[in-house]
Amino acid sequence: MNTYRIAVIPGDGIGPEVVAEGLRVLRAVGGADAGFSLELEELPWGSAYYDRHGRMMPGDAIPTLRTFDSIYFGAVGRPDLPDDLTVWGLILPMRRELDLYVNLRPVRLYPGVPTPLRPEVGEPHFTFVRENTEGEYAGLGGRQGQGEYELAVQTGVFTRRGIQRVVEYAFSLAAPGSLVTSVTKSNALRHAFPLWDEVAAEVAARHPDVRFEKMHVDAVAYQLVKNPARFGVLVGSNLFGDILTDLGAGLQGSLGLAASANLCPGQRLALFEPVHGSAPDIAGQGKANPLGAVACAALMLAHLGEREAAGRIERAMEDVTRQQVFTPDLGGSCSTHEVGDALLAALEREPSQAR
Ligand code: NAD
Ligand code: IPM
Ligand code: MN
Repeated sequence: MNTYRIAVIPGDGIGPEVVAEGLRVLRAVGGADAGFSLELEELPWGSAYYDRHGRMMPGDAIPTLRTFDSIYFGAVGRPDLPDDLTVWGLILPMRRELDLYVNLRPVRLYPGVPTPLRPEVGEPHFTFVRENTEGEYAGLGGRQGQGEYELAVQTGVFTRRGIQRVVEYAFSLAAPGSLVTSVTKSNALRHAFPLWDEVAAEVAARHPDVRFEKMHVDAVAYQLVKNPARFGVLVGSNLFGDILTDLGAGLQGSLGLAASANLCPGQRLALFEPVHGSAPDIAGQGKANPLGAVACAALMLAHLGEREAAGRIERAMEDVTRQQVFTPDLGGSCSTHEVGDALLAALEREPSQAR
């Protein structure tokens, strides 16, 4: 029987609330019947850790994380601490130092979920592949001067290797005949994105069975709302991917539903986190939608090779959304924990096939 060691980092705000429900689901699908077990080790990193230690995670955090099979993360950010301090102290170094260069963000509709789209525009069902270690998030630049002469410079870093590997991954997801859209802004940002376009075209030429287009990010934002069904796999830079995947979550009906996998293809260690943040406006009220975090649990099990268990979680989620067991973001009045209860009941109705 395979045993997987999972580092669980609940983090801040609603992070611990949604992760708690994800863990209930993970415990319910693992075990002897399922043919695998999970060792869930909680790491209390984040803003509370900062209060005690003056840093968001310990100095040996990265080597510690490398000893696990996977990382299950909630969210980071607390209103009394600067957001750049908390994100550059925890989530961004994990992505960069573990070289998790793919941020995979599937966008799909769950049954029973009201979407803001009119039915005639078609359903969104696409995957966004976001570059996750460089680009606009390189962190280079600074501020200088004072008063009206004060200025800030923020430098993006785009490498041929960084572009090539993430676009290559996007093509690896695309079925023959399907469409890959490369998202840039090469008209205005005239150094980085012409390089991106060039490299993407070279990768596309190696995959003649897949359709390819490049599109400016502003036009992509428009088409995602007007004609979302035209897209299959989209690939874009760190910042564009960040923004467009919140738009994608909006198309799904709620930011609380959106899930992501941070991966280094070919490597087991990966990080799974909902797309949303710590949501201080609803934290501590039992209102957070846990389904994004639960979908991350399914992505994590699929990545570990436990496809049957991942499928069970996905079917339980569909069962729960079909019955409209909804938190307030989806127009319901259920609590975070009640959605977890409904998921466990759905899993019980559909027992695992013992192997
Ligand atoms: P946010 O995603 O936390 O919240 C945006 C809006 O969506 C809020 O109205 C919130 O209530 C709602 N929302 C988010 N998740 C929800 C859920 N599961 N259920 C129901 N409603 C949900 O974004 P923000 O307000 O821009 O940022 C808040 C903090 O989170 C900041 O400190 C920011 O830096 C941090 N942040 C962290 C991550 C991360 O850890 N990966 C991601 C985004 C933002
Ligand atoms: C996300 C978040 C992060 C990002 C923040 C917290 C740095 O918004 O995961 O989408 O921009 O990548
Ligand atoms: Mn984001």
